[in-house]
Amino acid sequence: MVIVGAQWGDEGKGKVTDLLAERADLVVRFQGGNNAGHTIVRDGEEFKLHLVPSGILHPGTMCAIGNGVVIDPKIVTDEIDALRRRGIVTGNLRISANAHLIMPYHVFLDTAGEAKLGSLSIGTTRRGIGPCYADKSSRLGIRVQDLLDEKILRKKIMAAMEPKRQLLRPHAKDPALDLHAMTEEYITYGHRLEPYIADTAHLCWDALDAGKSVLFEGAQGALLDLDHGTYPFVTSSNPIAGSACVGAGVGPRDIDDVWGITKAYSTRVGSGPFPTELEDEVGETLRERGGEVGTTTGRPRRCGWLDLVALKYAVRLNGMTGLVITKLDVLSGIDPLRIAVRYRHPEGATFEEFPYHQSVLHHIEPEYDEVPGWHEDLSGIRNEEDLPQAARDYLQYMSDFVGVPVTLVGVGPARDQVIWAGGREPDSLNPA
Ligand code: IMP
Repeated sequence: MVIVGAQWGDEGKGKVTDLLAERADLVVRFQGGNNAGHTIVRDGEEFKLHLVPSGILHPGTMCAIGNGVVIDPKIVTDEIDALRRRGIVTGNLRISANAHLIMPYHVFLDTAGEAKLGSLSIGTTRRGIGPCYADKSSRLGIRVQDLLDEKILRKKIMAAMEPKRQLLRPHAKDPALDLHAMTEEYITYGHRLEPYIADTAHLCWDALDAGKSVLFEGAQGALLDLDHGTYPFVTSSNPIAGSACVGAGVGPRDIDDVWGITKAYSTRVGSGPFPTELEDEVGETLRERGGEVGTTTGRPRRCGWLDLVALKYAVRLNGMTGLVITKLDVLSGIDPLRIAVRYRHPEGATFEEFPYHQSVLHHIEPEYDEVPGWHEDLSGIRNEEDLPQAARDYLQYMSDFVGVPVTLVGVGPARDQVIWAGGREPDSLNPA
């Protein structure tokens, strides 16, 4: 099964992965890097993870960081240390030898690139993600396996830095960019990470061939997809389900279910088009009640109404089989609610489908359907039947519009604050 974000990221994938990981034998991250951030609340304890899959909290589940992920080795070693300090066993973690490494110069280039764009900046997380994927495509990337050979590592760093000399000139004296110091630092990470480095594609094949359940965990969301999102205001990887095959090393036929995660409203961090954005009191209410602040950067998130044109697009792009709706509780007390069902261009054209043209997308205005809200507190509800009728209707509206059944609904941050649609938690991820 694949778990993907159906919006602009931050849909609550971490919690869903954590819930499903219990029923999985292997959890694999397949793209992105520490631009992502997952907050998981377990037994009142909060865990913030950027690279290690949320499945790590289950001692019986193997976790892998796949070849499609870009890894900042400092972040992953810090995460491992922090987990171990809190008594979490990390022996089940594997890191792909083929995953690419974020190097100090990637972080500098990310920041410099944004500064250069000025008012046109993308609003990246400044974690070096874009420059790292660019080096991967240019075949100048440094991979996890290179950490195990000092000579090769030094040579590759030299080759990778050479074409960047001009751009890095303002930072030439920065100790982080010193070839010797950088090589030493990364070799130290190599020593630390060596026990975790593995052929993670093989790990997936073995699990799949043995009939075990594998959960592929995406980061970010469909509308941040490099090919299909709101380019250029996107991330530099493909957060859609098809990318699980490339980023983990499995075939399309290895994927059965695809669950897309969406909030009951919309949010976005960084720049770029956001048709249903609210810059009024309702937007502020959503931000406050939903705690809409970025896990990675601490930036306040832009908030808006649910956008079913965009969600339908995400459903099709991912071939979704199930819809997980998070943060339904945040909408309590907002009455009526508005749902975007089509877009209208100022020149008159209407769009029932998500427009591919950038300048169209920048100008359209959403058309809304207004539906009744509810006032009850949903946070204690665990069964669909106990939800207020208006909340049930809202879920049904979403499901009918996009043609995918709702499988799970979130009504609060804690692990148990969920409603399994159909009234029953699945025993395993494998279809019966
Ligand atoms: P980058 O991935 O750091 O290059 O940033 C590119 C765009 O993706 C920016 O708009 C970021 O705010 C956004 N982005 C990247 N990762 C996440 C995420 O995990 N959640 C939400 N937005 C993200």
